[in-house]
Formats: sequence, structure tokens, C-alpha cells
Amino acid sequence: MARKKIIAGNWKMNKTPSEAAAFIRELAPMVAGAEAEVVCCVPAIDIVPAVEAAKGSDIRIGAENMYFEEKGAYTGEISPAMLADAGVSYVILGHSERREYFGETNETVNRKVKKAFEHGLVPIVCCGETLNQREQGITMDWIRQQIKIAFLGISAEQAAEAVIAYEPIWAIGTGKVATSEQAQEVCHGIRELIRELYGDSTAEAVRIQYGGSVAPANAAELFAQPDIDGGLVGGASLKPDFAKVVYYQG
Ligand code: PGA
Repeated sequence: MARKKIIAGNWKMNKTPSEAAAFIRELAPMVAGAEAEVVCCVPAIDIVPAVEAAKGSDIRIGAENMYFEEKGAYTGEISPAMLADAGVSYVILGHSERREYFGETNETVNRKVKKAFEHGLVPIVCCGETLNQREQGITMDWIRQQIKIAFLGISAEQAAEAVIAYEPIWAIGTGKVATSEQAQEVCHGIRELIRELYGDSTAEAVRIQYGGSVAPANAAELFAQPDIDGGLVGGASLKPDFAKVVYYQG
């Protein structure tokens, strides 16, 4: 079964609401009819204007985070129902920056993954090792632990819908992209873990992205790997050049 590639931008803390709307309107005709699925994950305050600007286009809007409670006294947080109601399709969960700066753990990621599915949001579940872990030779052990905990209590049907983003921390925002062999090796390992946990059909359906300094110049080689189903793209998703990553085949 051929998996549809998914190219998702992760804007991080960039673009104001009016910049977001203008950018989506500029990008929309450039990616119209693309073979890959195109997603822009935007800051919470940009979601409403971005969804509006993306109407009738092939761009889907994602969030960069959410909370795992339905509602209540959680000042400053955004609920899954709010995202779903605003027209969000995807939500990035467990990005390494949220783990590093905002105390996200495998357990909170798991609670969020469950809630996302309850509200019809597709999670983009992030995992990835530090340079130190890679040098210690524990990359795959670490990633397996992150993914196993993130997917606790998640059904095979849900797992098949999920997107997993493998992002080596040493490659994020550094310009130091993983080699296609390194990226393929870990993405393959993740697919084999999903096979162990859920069986063949889930493993063949789940989409696994590579992220970390993806750019127009390296996208084709990375996305040609058999277990890499697209990318989570930070810096290169902020400019119209993002369309070149979407059309990575040239
Ligand atoms: P980068 O970020 O493409 O700027 O390296 C990727 C990410 O953090 O998702």
C-alpha cells in the first residue's frame, strides 16, 4: 500500500496573525494539486486566520501543541476541542523544544496523543536523540522508549492514522542534516517497533517523517528512502521556498 507523503511546516514562534494569513495566501497557489499532503503547523494565535486563508486550498492547518484536559482552570493553555472547532487537522506533540523548555515528558505526550484522537485531530508525534545519545550508541533504545510510551493505550486503528516525526535534536535548526542512511535507519526502526506493537497493516500505514534541517537541496534524497514518508520542516517552511520541499522530486 502506497503511503501518501506528508510535508509539514513547523513555524515555531514565528509570524504574526496577519503575516500568517498573507503567507498562506501566497503559498496556496504554489502547492495547489501537489502529490504530497501539505500542512502548516502554526502558532496558536495564527490558527484562525491561517484556517481562513487556507479555505479552498490544498493546505491543511496544524497546531504546534495543545493541553490534555478538556477545559477548566489551566491559564494560558489551548484545549483539543478549541483546535478541532477552529478547523485544525494536525497537532505536533512532544517536539524536542517543548520537552527541553516546557517540561514535556513521554507521559504528558501520551496523554495528549490520546486526547488528540478523541477530538479527531491527527497527532504528529515527535521523537529524537541528542548528539550525546547517538555517540553513546543508544539512539534506537531512546526512540523506542519515547514511542512506546507515547502510544500507550492507543489502538491499532488510531496508530495507523498517526504521524511520527523522527527529529534528531542535533539536526534541528543547525543546518547539520542527518544523512539519508542515518534517517532511514531510525525511521525503519520506528516502523519495526510499530509492527511489534500493532502488526503489519498498522506498520505499513503509519507515516513517519524525518525532521531536522530539511531544505529544498536535501529533501529529494531524504524522502526517497523507503521508510521516510515526508518531513517536518522548521526554518525552510517560513519562506515560499517551502513549495520546493513540497515538490521535492523537482
Ligand atoms: P529545522 O526544524 O527544519 O529548522 O531544523 C525542524 C523542527 O524542529 O521541526
